[in-house]
Amino acid sequence: MQEKIIILDFGSQTTQLIGRRVRELNTYCEIVPYNKFPHDDPSVIGVILSGSPFSVYDEKAFKVDLSKIRGRLPILGICYGAQFMAYTNGGTVEPAGTREYGRAHLAKIDESNPLFKDITPGSQVWMSHGDTITSIPGNFHPIASTDSVAIAAYQANDEKLWGVQFHPEVYHTEDGTQLLKNFVVDICGSKQDWDAASFIDTTVAALREQLGDDKVVLGLSGGVDSSVAAVLLNRAIGKNLTCIFVDHGMLRKDEFKNVLRDYEGLGLNVIGVDASEEFFTNLKGVTEPERKRKIIGKGFIDVFDREAHKVKDVKWLAQGTIYPDCIESLSITGTVIKSHHNVGGLPEKMNLKLCEPLRLLFKDEVRAVGRQLGMPEHLIKRHPFPGPGLAVRILGDITPEKVAVLQEADDIFIQGLRDWGLYDQVWQAGVILLPVQSVGVMGDERTYERAVALRAVTSTDAMTADWARLPYDFLAKVSNDIINKVKGVNRVTYDISSKPPATIEWE
Ligand code: XMP
Repeated sequence: MQEKIIILDFGSQTTQLIGRRVRELNTYCEIVPYNKFPHDDPSVIGVILSGSPFSVYDEKAFKVDLSKIRGRLPILGICYGAQFMAYTNGGTVEPAGTREYGRAHLAKIDESNPLFKDITPGSQVWMSHGDTITSIPGNFHPIASTDSVAIAAYQANDEKLWGVQFHPEVYHTEDGTQLLKNFVVDICGSKQDWDAASFIDTTVAALREQLGDDKVVLGLSGGVDSSVAAVLLNRAIGKNLTCIFVDHGMLRKDEFKNVLRDYEGLGLNVIGVDASEEFFTNLKGVTEPERKRKIIGKGFIDVFDREAHKVKDVKWLAQGTIYPDCIESLSITGTVIKSHHNVGGLPEKMNLKLCEPLRLLFKDEVRAVGRQLGMPEHLIKRHPFPGPGLAVRILGDITPEKVAVLQEADDIFIQGLRDWGLYDQVWQAGVILLPVQSVGVMGDERTYERAVALRAVTSTDAMTADWARLPYDFLAKVSNDIINKVKGVNRVTYDISSKPPATIEWE
């Protein structure tokens, strides 16, 4: 049985980060809504309560009854989690002054407390709540203070229950990983046996059990998630897996050919379907971004469905859904929202059972599994690429000619990033073909041609992003190469917008 930590989510933006930090300690964990603790699960070894956008004294604040957990499992409350336990047990929580917000330093700590083992007095912590605990219940005692907060952390007397008002999961808390390790490993007793190799072993065995001799289809996109899912399934069920890779005509230059070759090299049973003409026909004259997306989404489903049903007796649809797609997120109204938007609409339409072997993994873990499975590094480190492909990077209507121009410019940019050792430093990059022509001069001739925008961003999850500070010399070289080599382009710009308020893609 895989031991696990349960993280009760009270809606904080850093809840997923807590999950990732626990996983980095080679410990399996699951994030569940605050009111969905799995009471019947014997494999839980400890519980972490997340932060929240609410104050504990708000009427709408998320409340939970911990009586069935307390005394049975170790509990760590973070920020709101800490304030909630203090407040509901008779302590006081009040609005704090601005001084308690952001960076702070641990002043006094109880070094004999197991939660603070090997944590340096004076080390920086990150506070991010507008509230502070001003008194704790009589049966709790303080174990750390900061410059301005007397009760930065507490423990319940003779009980495995702790609260910290700062965020150990964020990078700015210097000894945060050590604190989480103290809790997860020393206090909860994690054996730290969760890693890529053990995941592969247990998942391959579970897939064999689940799928038996059934036939499975999987849609490959060229991206990391679907590729790793395919290789993992291939290891489990071999030729009973049929992979389908659809070319909608809006992939990068030579991508279809190259990726298909990679897949074949990995021993996958893969069918490449060139459906580009069908897509170009359906997209003719369409300029509205959402319409483009819908047409491509529906077209993809139609082609995939058609091809998949050529596989005799197919019973399962496999997808490369990963954990962040599955975590039920809490909205401020308290409703649980499930955002699950990988290949939207496919499972409903196909009437197949769904198999998602990566649904418990974070992105970096998917990559680690891919490596462990022996996949080539260029597949594993590939940048994210939108499902509708270059269609959302051609503003205005789409024609095969425009796609060809964009493919050339994009290829120069991406190859340039690789050649200059910059590819792995950016989250994703691409070129956008603008519906703008401008005047230029080439040799003795006046030109009137297209402008393109280069886009490169840094990010950790695509929710927020910043424009990449690429070296001027590199941008100059790329700009020159594009204008000299790509017929029809005479101007190159660089997009310096961050997300928010802009988005990564232009459409
Ligand atoms: P935005 O433009 O919203 O993009 O900042 C965030 C991330 O999502 C990708 N993206 C898409 N992926 N289908 C996809 O599969 C889409 O329609 C789509 N639109 C945006 C985008 O490339 C970035 O990684």
